[in-house]
Amino acid sequence: MKSFNPYPKKIPKARLEIEQMKQYSAPLEGRRQMLRLDFNENTIGPSPKVIEAIHNITSEEIAVYPEYNGLKKAFAENLNSSLTVGSVIPNQIAIFNGVDAAIHSIFYAYGDRGKTFLTTKPTFGYYNPCANMQGMKILEIPYEGRSFEFPIKEISLSLRNLNPEILIICNPNNPTGTSLDARRIIQLAEQFPRTLIVIDELYEAFLGDSIIPIVNYYETPNLVVLRSLSKTSGLAGLRIGFAIGHPDVIDRICRVTGPYDINSFAVTAAFAALRDQAYIDNYVAEVLKARLWIKEELSNEKINHHINSGNYFLLWPDQNPTAIEEHLKASGILVRNMKNKYAIDGSLRVSIGTIDQMKLFLDMYKKATKLLH
Ligand SMILES: Cc1ncc(COP(=O)(O)O)c(C=O)c1O
Repeated sequence: MKSFNPYPKKIPKARLEIEQMKQYSAPLEGRRQMLRLDFNENTIGPSPKVIEAIHNITSEEIAVYPEYNGLKKAFAENLNSSLTVGSVIPNQIAIFNGVDAAIHSIFYAYGDRGKTFLTTKPTFGYYNPCANMQGMKILEIPYEGRSFEFPIKEISLSLRNLNPEILIICNPNNPTGTSLDARRIIQLAEQFPRTLIVIDELYEAFLGDSIIPIVNYYETPNLVVLRSLSKTSGLAGLRIGFAIGHPDVIDRICRVTGPYDINSFAVTAAFAALRDQAYIDNYVAEVLKARLWIKEELSNEKINHHINSGNYFLLWPDQNPTAIEEHLKASGILVRNMKNKYAIDGSLRVSIGTIDQMKLFLDMYKKATKLLH
């Protein structure tokens, strides 16, 4: 008797671009109860007011589709409290299921087959899969030299010569911490109006040079800025991200999203997080202190490292980085291995949390290096 085969011989083919891709996978599993210095998340969790708001969520809020206008208004107010000129209005804001979803939608709306996506390298890993998904050509310009300077000349030349459809600048860049002056970005947007220039400001709070206070989206409608509550506010698990831009550009990006993509828990948590700006400011201040502390320690210990803006740094162990990573993991600390990444192969990326967490990391790192000596 023929045995039953639950799988048909041929599976339906996806689009050509999709068949050529692999899933974007990050080492996300089994990270609870560890000191997580591997994804640049907030290392102490959200404001207690966020937890309280989640506890108080009502049955009605769960039963009804979420509302977004109030959150757009609250986010606009939060941004405007830091603006000296101009102001952002709610229809210049779109809410996403994390900035990853914003990036996805931007490519879906603006990225055409055969057209060019311009970015830098090494940079955040999710831009390229989104460009590939659309069948775009990808041009990655390397950061320059040992201190990973921003390749402004090459980027300008490529904008001029190739007329790319989309340019993404991660500012400051994950993982090199490189930043480009906000005024210089505005000039690029003015000079190259046919390119959609996306500024990923996920780590801006740790730099303090946001483009938002100086951009006029009506003069440079080709500029879109991304912000998230994952890294500063500790909401990575709830997924909330924002895009800010010209209302008509925001409208196009929102044409490709579902009507209720962001759930009510995330909306409730985001309201509470934005209302407790002091909590975010204190956390950022603590990370900045810890960054100074670890920078000095790494120099004193003569550990080969690169530390700039952002809540992360790179270090190059003398020993096998994967073995160090494993030792750290066994002592309860996660870091991110930059194996096979352009220009930073052989390094580990370490997120910066509180000074106590950095002390613990450094102790364990030194122990691991001694054991492997
Ligand atoms: C530069 C950059 N952009 C976007 C993201 C995704 O952020 P979110 O958690 O808001 O999706 C990350 C996450 O690591 C990131 O490093």
